[in-house]
Amino acid sequence: MTAWVRVCAESELLPGESRVAWDGDTPILVVNLDGALYALEDKCTHEDFELSAGPIDGDQVECTLHGARFDLRTGEALCAPAYSAVPKFPVKREDGAVWTRDDR
Ligand code: FES
Repeated sequence: MTAWVRVCAESELLPGESRVAWDGDTPILVVNLDGALYALEDKCTHEDFELSAGPIDGDQVECTLHGARFDLRTGEALCAPAYSAVPKFPVKREDGAVWTRDDR
């Protein structure tokens, strides 16, 4: 099991904001949706484009390359051209900071 990676201070990830952290070679998109934190691999399952480049709309993120959308809470692919879910990672608040890790 890998160690937790510090994303940022809690005050730097307020509702509606997002951050990208790296756990080794894994980019992780961490979002704050109305106070609840979620972490997904920052990689579209269509052609590996970074999801963090796209707009967040409610609880969804859209890939700017070809328009696939994903549920930020679950990683589920919501429309073509992506059909596979994005891996979801654990995320926590501790010591005033936000933490995540690639637990695969
Ligand atoms: S790379 Fe994301 S929709 Fe094609």
